[in-house]
Amino acid sequence: MRKIGILTGGGDCPGLNAVIRGVVTRCMKDGIEVFGFHAGWRGVIECDGHWMTLKEVESIQTQGGTILGSSRTNVMKIENGPEIVRTTMEALGLEGLVAIGGDDTLGVANQLRKLGMNMIGVPKTIDNDLSCTDWTFGFDTASNIATEEIDRLHTTAASHARCFVVECMGRHTGWIALQAGIAADAHLVLVPEFPMSFKEIYELVRNRYVRGERYTIIAVAEGFEFKDEAMEELETDMFGNALLLHRELARGLAERIEKAIRTDETLDKRREHFEARSVVLGHLQRGGAPSAFDRVLGTRMGVKAGELVVNNEYGNMVSLRGTNIAVADLERAVTERKKVDKEFYDVAALFF
Ligand code: F6P
Repeated sequence: MRKIGILTGGGDCPGLNAVIRGVVTRCMKDGIEVFGFHAGWRGVIECDGHWMTLKEVESIQTQGGTILGSSRTNVMKIENGPEIVRTTMEALGLEGLVAIGGDDTLGVANQLRKLGMNMIGVPKTIDNDLSCTDWTFGFDTASNIATEEIDRLHTTAASHARCFVVECMGRHTGWIALQAGIAADAHLVLVPEFPMSFKEIYELVRNRYVRGERYTIIAVAEGFEFKDEAMEELETDMFGNALLLHRELARGLAERIEKAIRTDETLDKRREHFEARSVVLGHLQRGGAPSAFDRVLGTRMGVKAGELVVNNEYGNMVSLRGTNIAVADLERAVTERKKVDKEFYDVAALFF
């Protein structure tokens, strides 16, 4: 009897359950048993999980989160971590693992692959920053949520003639801020790929004020850095990722803009009433039901990952190329980051 394991690691993401359902259903069709590890790599280290059934994955593509749970446990930071993984796999009789995750989770899978273990990766992240795939599942839902929230902010911002700074997730890249910024007509989009100085940002807000625009909405990715300012030291997780929510980037920027306008003596008296506010969309972007797009993309990726298992094609990551589901090299996928390119950013910039 062939057996594999499956796990979901890193930040949860709409569409994870669709992938799980795809993998389990496709594998079981060929009689392959699937052991679902709980809480990502932690479940593998602690041999915590259960043998999955078709019944438990029925219709789960409609649900957000992950029925298997997740964690940011880094196997490579645990003493004898890879050996513990090998022991767990041998104890359960697993020939391989399907790891569903972002660069951290798949990075671990790739290290284990190099140590001779059978791994298949499925690219997951709302941040959409994994290379070798055109789109990651979860990104569509997250940017739809961010779009809806920015849409809402237009009316309250206009009513109070305020500036709003909306912080979107995006640790290293600005895909969500840009996608939602274009869709919901943010007046300025700030992304890590294209740093700006506070002075440049202020000039844009000031110009709008001088032109008599009632309000301004700025979409900023949480990983954005000011051109001429160093980012403060922040606490990090087990993979060394800075906990960016602690930065309070949006609040800081809103306060600076408000102060700068109020004290700008070249502006008229109305400036004294100028107000700026901040909104951090945070984990709202990751919660709730996946969009139809993410349900289908997750399902297609899960089925493909199951097929790779059936055909013994380990060492690969599934990916989306155009509208087709393809196979990519796991090593390449985790060593390059997919960044927002200038051509795409300039589409938004045309409207600033
Ligand atoms: O998984 C990606 C992500 O959503 C990033 O956009 C964000 O910085 C991070 O996770 C937040 O992580 P946590 O849920 O651990 O606070």
